[in-house]
Amino acid sequence: MAAVAVDANYLKEIEKTRRDLRALISSKNCAPIMLRLAWHDAGTYDVKSKTGGANGSIRNEEELKHGANSGLKIAIDFCEEVKKKHPRITYADLYQLAGVVAVEITGGPTVEFVPGRKDSLVSPREGRLPDAKQGGQHLRDIFYRMGLSDKEIVALSGAHTLGRAHPERSGFGGAWTSEPLKFDNSYFVELLKGETEGLLKLPTDNALLDDPAFRRYVELYAQDEDTFFKAFAMAHKKLSELGFSPSSSASKVEAKTTVVLAQSAVGVAVAAAVVVLSYLYEARRIKK
Ligand code: HEM
Repeated sequence: MAAVAVDANYLKEIEKTRRDLRALISSKNCAPIMLRLAWHDAGTYDVKSKTGGANGSIRNEEELKHGANSGLKIAIDFCEEVKKKHPRITYADLYQLAGVVAVEITGGPTVEFVPGRKDSLVSPREGRLPDAKQGGQHLRDIFYRMGLSDKEIVALSGAHTLGRAHPERSGFGGAWTSEPLKFDNSYFVELLKGETEGLLKLPTDNALLDDPAFRRYVELYAQDEDTFFKAFAMAHKKLSELGFSPSSSASKVEAKTTVVLAQSAVGVAVAAAVVVLSYLYEARRIKK
């Protein structure tokens, strides 16, 4: 895997990609499936063997055919339209940026995005993503393997505030909330209400109610949307960086740009002061 040179041009390209993703996701109303794509690329991570993770490998036909990824070809193809315009951006960055933009443009929190993920063509064996028919122990097995905690399991499950299940993809049907294109804390509010006609609850969603360690976060997030947004933003950033250690180069380039901008601002202020002083001097001279 070649290293990604996160220089000023790459950062500029990321900003253009972000804008194109915003336009694409809002015109196609595809935020939910883009978020699911980002999560399924990253969620294969195994913290012990350091394999899987946010590396773009989900685009491999072999991985895309895994049962859990059913339907995600739609999101891969949407991303391909953007990739054509920004070939330098890695697939791994593109998919995670799409997830971050999906959350943001549906009204969710801003998730910090650090670029520089490398692409991989090595796919993990099938079975690393959660099985919706199972319970709390299974959730822990899967998410602890990624290096995530109980709090992060609950916060990330709140992503089901968006989108729906499609019987032909997962065998389940329906949306979790009455506004599946709005990112808010209604997933937790609905979960606590119990069965509501027309709304979906997966066995893994209900497992969050049965376990006291999970339930306390469900109650907290249902009560306080700001706390949910903060927890989600942190957990999602971590998810989006599984298998990726942001190099300091990206932040250095950003820091450098800030310094240059600050220096330019000082330069402009000095030049303006000189102009004003010369004007005052000239005005006084004419008066005399
Ligand atoms: C906790 C374990 C999880 C399980 C068992 C699970 C399972 C599922 C299932 C079965 C679907 C329906 C797929 C379909 O039929 O189209 C789905 C959809 C979705 N999942 Fe999850 N999921 C989990 C966690 C997450 C996480 C962590 C995220 C994101 C951070 C996420 C985001 C989504 C989104 C946005 C959709 C809607 C997709 C659409 O509308 O096309 N899920 N999930």
